[in-house]
Amino acid sequence: MKEEFEPKILAFCCHYCAYSSVDLAGSMRLQYPPNVRIIRTPCTGRLETEYFLKALENGADGVLVAGCLEGGCHFIEGNIWAKRRVEYIREMLTEIGFDKERLRMVNVSAAMAKPLADIITDMVETVRKLGPNPLGQNSTSKKQETAL
Ligand code: FES
Repeated sequence: MKEEFEPKILAFCCHYCAYSSVDLAGSMRLQYPPNVRIIRTPCTGRLETEYFLKALENGADGVLVAGCLEGGCHFIEGNIWAKRRVEYIREMLTEIGFDKERLRMVNVSAAMAKPLADIITDMVETVRKLGPNPLGQNSTSKKQETAL
């Protein structure tokens, strides 16, 4: 019997809004798939383009970048810079044959627990339909478990 593919999603969440929102989702006992590994970052503007590529290279099937609402970044324009970087990498992914839906950016407030849980669920389902990362590193090996 063939096992259903379980995507691994890496989510970079900014400390001030997205991480607080995920935390709130936990407090509210909202359900979202356990496929996501969350990394708290001071601001999405701190994320370099290499981080997204490294995540995919090291076995993530999808990468979610979640920052503050536009105009609400605690570092003024960090989320705008992140948006540009994500768009740049999405175009690059398309050029090399990846589906750009493997990398997404969303903007949420600290109170948007339900929308963020829905976004995570949607991303997991989208990537599940896309299948494993073409780099072929989604397996249950210890190496990937520690990489994520
Ligand atoms: Fe949240 Fe900049 S502080 S995106």
